[in-house]
Amino acid sequence: MRKILVTGGAGFIGSNFVRYALERWPDVEVVVFDKLTYAGNLANLSDVDDNPRYRFVQADIAEEAPVREAMADCDAVINFAAETHVDRSILFPREFVFTDVVGTFTLLEAARDLGIARFVQVSTDEVYGSVEEGAFEEGAPLNPSSPYSASKAGGDLLALAYAKTFGVPLLVARSSNNYGPYQYPEKLIPLFVTNALDDQPLPLYGDGRQVRDWLYVEDNCAALALLLEAGEVGEVYNVGGDCELENVDVTRRILRLMGKPESLIQYVADRPAHDRRYALQCERIRALGWEPATPFDEGLAKTVAWYVEREDWWRPLKDPAFQEYYRQQYGER
Ligand code: NAD
Ligand code: DAU
Repeated sequence: MRKILVTGGAGFIGSNFVRYALERWPDVEVVVFDKLTYAGNLANLSDVDDNPRYRFVQADIAEEAPVREAMADCDAVINFAAETHVDRSILFPREFVFTDVVGTFTLLEAARDLGIARFVQVSTDEVYGSVEEGAFEEGAPLNPSSPYSASKAGGDLLALAYAKTFGVPLLVARSSNNYGPYQYPEKLIPLFVTNALDDQPLPLYGDGRQVRDWLYVEDNCAALALLLEAGEVGEVYNVGGDCELENVDVTRRILRLMGKPESLIQYVADRPAHDRRYALQCERIRALGWEPATPFDEGLAKTVAWYVEREDWWRPLKDPAFQEYYRQQYGER
C-alpha cells in the first residue's frame, strides 16, 4: 500500500483512522476526501495538518469528476463517508440515499475503472436489524429498520455485487457502536456528556433498556487497518466490542463518572422503529488476530475526560444550527 484515499476522513471514526494510519504505516500517504457536512470538521485533523504524508480534498463522494481525480493516484480506498445519524435519517432521509447509496456507487465505479488494489467499505451492524437473542454472523439476512440502515445496506450490497460481478478487490466491515474522542455531539455518549456538563437533561428514549454493543474507536481503527492489510477480498467482517449494555446503564455510568445526579435523566418518547438490541458474532475477524483491547469503563473514562478537556472542540458545534436540529428532534418528545 502506497497511498490511501480516506473518504469521510474529517468525521469521527475517519479522523481517528487517519491518525492511526499515519502512525501504523510510516511510508503510506493519506488523502482525505470529505464534503465537510455538519458532521465533518477539519478541527478533527488539526494535529496532522502539517504532516507531509497527509492531504485534504473537499468534495462529494457522489460527484464523479472529483472522485476520479482524487482516486487516480491512490492504490487503496477506505470509505467512511456517509450520513450516519439514525434520528436525522427519520427527519431527512434524502441525503442518506444520495450519499450512502449513490455516493458508494460512484466510488465503486471509479475503483473499478482505475483498478484500485484494495477497497474497504465501512458499514454497520444496523444492517442486520434487531436481534432479541443470540448474535448475527456475517451471512445473516439484512433486515434494516431505518432510512439510515437501509441506505447503508444498499451501499453494502452494491459493494459486494461489484466484487462478484467486476472483481473489484473489496471487503465490507460491519462494526458496532463506536465511542471516543471527536464524536459529533448528536450521538448518545457525546450528547449526554456535553448536556451533563451544562446540567441539561439527558433525553433517554422509551424505557432506556435498548442494548448496544460498544466499541472504542481506536479498537475499530485497528480492526479496519488489519482488514485493509489482510482481510479476504469479497468477504464481510463483523467488528464488535463484546460489550453489550442497556442505554440506561451507559447513561448512569456517564453520570457517575461526572459526579452528576441521576435526576438529569429524562425519559422521552421512543425513536420510531427503534431496534431493541444489536449483537454480532466476530469469529472471522478474531481469526485474523484482532480483538477489542479497551474495556468499556476505561474507554468511557478516557472519552469523558476528553470532552471535559476539549470544550473548545465541542462547544462551537452546539451552534444555532445544532440548536434548531435539537428543537426539531427533541422538542415534541
Ligand atoms: P460521522 O458522521 O462522524 O462522519 C461522516 C463523515 O462523512 C463527515 O466527515 C462528513 O462530512 C462526511 N460526508 C458525509 N457525506 C459526504 C459526502 N457526500 N461526500 C463526502 N463526505 C461526506 O460518521 P462516523 O460515525 O465517523 O461514521 C463513519 C462510517 O462508519 C460511516 O460509514 C458509518 O456508517 C460507519 N459506522 C459508524 C459507527 C458509529 O458508531 N459511529 C458504527 C458502525 C459503522
Ligand atoms: O450500531 C452502529 C451504529 O451506531 C452506527 O451505524 C451509526 O452510525 C451510529 O450513529 C450508531 O447508531 P445508534 O442509533 O445506535 O446510535 P445513537 O448514538 O444515535 O443511539 C444509541 C442508542 O441510544 C440508541 O438505542 C438510541 C438511544 N438514544 C440516542 C440518542 C441520541 C437515546 O436514548 N437518546 C438520545 O438522545
